[in-house]
Amino acid sequence: MICRMTDSDIPVLDRFSLAGKVALVTGASSGLGAGFAVALAQAGADVVLAARRADRLDAVRREVEKLGRSALSAETDVTDPEACQAAVQAAVERFGHLDVLINNAGLGTAVPALRETPEQFRSVIDVNLMGAYWMAQAAARVMPPGSSIVNIASLLGLVKSFWPQAAYAASKAGLMGLTRDLNQQWSGRRGIRVNAVAPGYFRSEMTQEIPPDTLNEFITQTSTLGRMGEQHEIDTVVVFLASPASSYVAGVTLAVDGGMSGH
Ligand SMILES: NC(=O)c1ccc[n+]([C@@H]2O[C@H](COP(=O)([O-])OP(=O)(O)OC[C@H]3O[C@@H](n4cnc5c(N)ncnc54)[C@H](OP(=O)(O)O)[C@@H]3O)[C@@H](O)[C@H]2O)c1
Repeated sequence: MICRMTDSDIPVLDRFSLAGKVALVTGASSGLGAGFAVALAQAGADVVLAARRADRLDAVRREVEKLGRSALSAETDVTDPEACQAAVQAAVERFGHLDVLINNAGLGTAVPALRETPEQFRSVIDVNLMGAYWMAQAAARVMPPGSSIVNIASLLGLVKSFWPQAAYAASKAGLMGLTRDLNQQWSGRRGIRVNAVAPGYFRSEMTQEIPPDTLNEFITQTSTLGRMGEQHEIDTVVVFLASPASSYVAGVTLAVDGGMSGH
């Protein structure tokens, strides 16, 4: 008797595997994005690293290669739609396909609204919202059915901020709207699921700019867990959303914020 394994016979942990997949991570030169690149490689993916600082990308590329996976550094400014297209093209030229996009590039400034210049406001929207859209468009043009796009939004797209962050909050709330709409357009028709993650507070170059005492006070008051998140606690969520483990999760924003948005 021949026994054929069907999709429902795959053991649960194997569903998180990204073996044979290619993932592109924007903002992979530091912070969360560098961590995601390594985590995706640990799950079996080859990785394309996109950001502006080429030397920092190369350092992350070497970390991925130490895991036995292949990596490509693609110097990219996500505010330029043609550069996004070129990063996707480089991925396909090197690996033959692209299955996962992590839209993580972002910047967060705190400026009182009455003093914020048009350039300051635009620069945040340009990277956090428009950059994610240019990358998603470029990626979705080549992604096969079964692919996944994960947009890294923020807690501050869901709840009020402690600091004056109109541009940042608007960009991240916009990214959640973009997530819903792109998922509506692509998940059924093209087999590309689009989801978002809303991180709370994790250590990175971005959060280093916040005075530690203020940040600690804020976190103690707002997080039900009373602490910042650790990189591995968000890596697992990103790998889940990137992988077939989340095959029935589509168009949602998952908060990874130690209970901060649950108030
Ligand atoms: N850390 C947190 O607690 C937290 C909380 C909520 C949301 N987030 C989100 O998580 C993401 C990562 O942030 P992080 O905390 O890891 O900060 P980070 O260390 O400052 O990383 C930001 C990344 O974005 C890249 N980037 C910025 N502008 C870019 C551009 N024009 N083109 C391409 N890449 C660009 C930077 O690379 P280059 O400078 O090399 O281009 C860098 O790799 C952001 O979207 C942020 O909003 C973080």
